[in-house]
Amino acid sequence: MDHSQLLKKYNVPVPRYTSYPTVPYWSDSPTSAQWLEFLQRALSQPDSSWSMYLHIPFCETLCTFCGCNTVITRGHERESPYVKTLLQEFFNYHRHLPLLADKPLRQLHLGGGTPTFLSSAHLRALLEGLYRHVVIDKKNFVASVEVDPRRTSVEQLQVMFELGFTRVSLGVQDFDPEVQRLVNRIQPLEQTRELTEAARAMGYQSVNFDMIYGLPKQTVASFGPSIDRTIELRPDRIALYSFAKVPWIKPQQRLFKDEDLPEGGEKLALFEVAYNKLLQAGYIEIGMDHFALASDKLSLALKNKSLHRNFMGYTEIRTDILLGLGVSSISETRECFHQNEKVLPLYEKKVQAQEVATLRGHILSADDQRQRDQVLRFMTQGSVPLRDAGQVSDVRRFLEDMLRDGLVRLEQNTLSITELGRPFLRNACVVLDQRLREQKPETRVFSQAL
Ligand SMILES: C[S@@+](CC[C@H](N)C(=O)[O-])C[C@H]1O[C@@H](n2cnc3c(N)ncnc32)[C@H](O)[C@@H]1O
Ligand code: SF4
Repeated sequence: MDHSQLLKKYNVPVPRYTSYPTVPYWSDSPTSAQWLEFLQRALSQPDSSWSMYLHIPFCETLCTFCGCNTVITRGHERESPYVKTLLQEFFNYHRHLPLLADKPLRQLHLGGGTPTFLSSAHLRALLEGLYRHVVIDKKNFVASVEVDPRRTSVEQLQVMFELGFTRVSLGVQDFDPEVQRLVNRIQPLEQTRELTEAARAMGYQSVNFDMIYGLPKQTVASFGPSIDRTIELRPDRIALYSFAKVPWIKPQQRLFKDEDLPEGGEKLALFEVAYNKLLQAGYIEIGMDHFALASDKLSLALKNKSLHRNFMGYTEIRTDILLGLGVSSISETRECFHQNEKVLPLYEKKVQAQEVATLRGHILSADDQRQRDQVLRFMTQGSVPLRDAGQVSDVRRFLEDMLRDGLVRLEQNTLSITELGRPFLRNACVVLDQRLREQKPETRVFSQAL
């Protein structure tokens, strides 16, 4: 079977496994008090360190492909109250968990929305406000930020660099002007080039570009050159996402019709052209959607088998505690997931009342934890030892087709993905996902594999 036929055969809806259990299977939600107990327990472990995620939901304009949790506004007077609420949320946690101030902070990520919606002064106030109350793990600290090149100044990059940021991720999506027009995101190549060069000159060590295939009116003839432009700018990392159609974007907000979207074979051809170009240009496929130069820490972690995966995607940094602050943010410990309120006024109200802004979450059972370890190992290392003879025969049966097509291998009780199978990692991972296998979702909740 050639590559195109394989892409067609395995292009079915499957989870992305940024968590296990995946979000639609979260059932046993913690109360706010329980969540604080789980955090306390995780922080009490000797030698534990932690990661922090800050969600800034604001964007000035709506990109009509966007599936992120955003608030579209040009009202920059909202910056200051939001920064205050984020700091307040941190202090609320700190009041219950004094240990938070002693544990070394290993990783910090600012995501959105658009973190650079905040002015340099507000970014500084937010970060300095937090740094005053945490201990930074100076030797190992890594801070990263997602930026929209249309709304990011060199000054903002400079302020974050001074405050310890060394990684930056630029939203690009596609360089083609017509595709950009149709998704309401005009972003000249020069703007992306200038910001990339400024970040490098300043000393940022890792630059990532987000690209999307499957956008309206994308063709192989237009997307191929967009990938070439990307390769010329040589970002250290590239995320190549499949466009997940967002039903809540109203047709009148879009400049394109459903018929403009490349579907089926056309969409797969876009993936194939990008995939081949990236590999030919020396990028290494890290796992689902992610590529990196051999010199990047992600590639090194893949090689050393120390890659990790969490809600922020692939990372070479493993901490057992991820604390998410901000509207809709997700947190996790080994035993529990927790998500904040997704509606901004509800989130603000709870934080201002000094409450934890719990929306939902999941307490992992012992079985969940065992399965999560297997899923994580398979998604990050591409191979996993199976538990016993029963699981081996289950895998043999469930992955019969993938074994026959040479996408996975089963040797000495270890399941591995083959080179050919790498784009189908998440299809194979389903065999380890007991919750999905026991109960299929009633509505369509997962995007296509490609
Ligand atoms: C928070 S944004 C990045 C930062 C900034 N807001 C920007 O757009 O430049 C996160 C990324 O998610 C991806 N994304 C958003 N909506 C998507 C969708 N419906 N399908 C696939 N990828 C999507 C885009 O590649 C986007 O760059
Ligand atoms: S892609 Fe980025 S800038 Fe565009 S709406 Fe989504 S979060 Fe905002």
